[in-house]
Amino acid sequence: MAEPKENPLMEKIVSLCKRRGFVYQSSEIYGGINGFWDYGPLGAELKRNVKELWWNTMTRQREDVVGLEATIIMSPEIWKASGHVSTFSDPMCDCLLTKKRFRADQVEPQSGVAYHYATATDQTSLQKLAELAGASKAAEAFISGKEIEILSALFNSVDNDHHPLLKQTFAEVGMDIENSAHALFNGLRGHLKSQGQKTIPFAVLLQPGKPPESARKIAKEFYAGRGIKDPVLLGEQTEKVENSQRFNPENGALLTDPRPFNLMFKTYVGPVESEDNVAYLRPETAQAIFAQFKNVLETSRQKVPFGIGQIGKAFRNEVTPRNYTFRSREFEQMELEFFIKPDEVIEAIHGNVVTVPETGHPGEPQPNWGWQAWHQYWVEERVRFYEGIGLSRETLGFHRQTAEELAHYARACVDILFKFPFSKRDEKGELKGEELEGIAARSDFDLSQHQRFSGKPMGVFDEELRAAWGKLSEEKKKELSDRYFANRKKYLVKMGVAEEQATKEATNDTNGLAKGQYIPHVIEPSAGVDRLILSLICNAYTEVSKTDEKGKTEINVVMKFHPRVAPIKVGVMPLLKNKPELVKKALEVRDILRPWMNVFYDDGGSIGRRYARQDEAGTPFCVTIDFDTLGEKPELLDTVTLRYRDDGKQERLKISELRDWLLSKIR
Ligand code: GAP
Repeated sequence: MAEPKENPLMEKIVSLCKRRGFVYQSSEIYGGINGFWDYGPLGAELKRNVKELWWNTMTRQREDVVGLEATIIMSPEIWKASGHVSTFSDPMCDCLLTKKRFRADQVEPQSGVAYHYATATDQTSLQKLAELAGASKAAEAFISGKEIEILSALFNSVDNDHHPLLKQTFAEVGMDIENSAHALFNGLRGHLKSQGQKTIPFAVLLQPGKPPESARKIAKEFYAGRGIKDPVLLGEQTEKVENSQRFNPENGALLTDPRPFNLMFKTYVGPVESEDNVAYLRPETAQAIFAQFKNVLETSRQKVPFGIGQIGKAFRNEVTPRNYTFRSREFEQMELEFFIKPDEVIEAIHGNVVTVPETGHPGEPQPNWGWQAWHQYWVEERVRFYEGIGLSRETLGFHRQTAEELAHYARACVDILFKFPFSKRDEKGELKGEELEGIAARSDFDLSQHQRFSGKPMGVFDEELRAAWGKLSEEKKKELSDRYFANRKKYLVKMGVAEEQATKEATNDTNGLAKGQYIPHVIEPSAGVDRLILSLICNAYTEVSKTDEKGKTEINVVMKFHPRVAPIKVGVMPLLKNKPELVKKALEVRDILRPWMNVFYDDGGSIGRRYARQDEAGTPFCVTIDFDTLGEKPELLDTVTLRYRDDGKQERLKISELRDWLLSKIR
């Protein structure tokens, strides 16, 4: 569960997170639980700030987005409609030796020599060979080609002195190995069968330069684990292997064939654990938004285009949780489903659909924007959000999914990436980063699916469309109808609806346009809270070396969080703990600020130590109450020393101005 040893920066970050109370391993006193993390006092504040900023930016500060807070467990029908029951799976394989599970597509490709074994046997069975040796010549007639192959490999390995015991056994009964091979193998197989043992093939990949004995050692461990005491390996064959993902990179042992593994956590609702009561912990927050779309539309007085945002827990039984909190099994998402009019509807109403360049912010939303402009708008809005909390564009990367990568219903998807210390370089040596958020143009797929599965209409009525449609030329009506029909039919056929039925349903949907009806399309910016927290922590981590008067150098960590997300906004400190007038004044300052922000009062240790502690916690400002505050220099009465975390600079500020000054920095 610890970070890989080869990433020293990540190790330092993980250790700081634990030491300062950002992140702890879940259930640590019981040895932890893989893929689950807790947030300590500083982490909890950081997370709360991030979620609040997202919520404010995406809902409260917009006219066209409202919020939702749905349950984690919902009707299992939702997950059938969304496709999660049938397709939300990863190809997974297990190490045959350690049982460790891997995502088949994430196994590090390896090259080397694979040592294959036909099976193994124990000493007793080997003794049995001796008895069988002379007797089974007649069995030769029954031998298959495959067995001959295995046997020849077996005897090769015997010749290589690999199985001295086997060789000795043959010698003792005075046998000619070549002639008796077939009969022997059949005899051995019969014996193993009578003992309830099957032949169990296995293989180990050896990295170049490693001795064959290390493969044999691993193979013996494997067979011993299968109940074969003191195993003797049979049928060793070698094979040169290039870039194979079939072996455990940690020990070279063969992996099972990949099998699909559904990532949803299953549970039962009610006291009876039957298939009828199965429910799932939601793997994303998005589906609740689609399922409640009509309720929100009716109760919020919104009209398309508008969005519904939600923040909440999601659960995925990830095959390989990794990179600290990056891929967890329990995590939080911040998702917006922004519903828009289909392009055909925009064209019917406005006569054209505006598209925008694929880079740069397209500006304020316009009524004639189609899906492409809205998609670009949300990509840029989300980048601005990240910039606004301290992640500069240089720390981010972008990935526009290719046609092959896109889900069949999606029209585009741009992933916003962050360059983590564990991010790898691509073939060109460039650091691209890992996904923080995906912004997808999902067409009308989701609402259409819920309409089909629930039987409840998910379309909207748009008076503007109805009025505009009546004024279109017959030619334009046909052109738009044909396009709308083609899209609807394509979706239905893809979902397995029979051709004739699909034509009927798509025709009905298309006829709805004239009545002002359509199913909205959606743009989905979907971000992970925990990944963002990890990126903010990695981005903030800074080592500063300081040399004192005696020439002693010390490395201090300064967490340079943007003041907006910093867990503690200000440290308040009396210069001396043993001066009641200073303490009293400092507590007064603390109490002025407390209702407005997270304040940390600290009077323990030298002022330098106290500043260093706040630097490590990422507190952007500290105020110190000193004798000037009390009026030692009358012109400085009721002022404090304000210290900046990032450069250590100090200035004086009036207590009466402090709150507003700080609020202007942290909001
Ligand atoms: N509704 C779309 C959706 O869920 P996703 O790409 O699977 O799309 C969206 O997830 C975001 O959720 C990701 O960009 C990531 O930030 C976060 N996320 C997904 N799986 C995660 C995991 N196992 N651990 C932490 N965050 C995860």
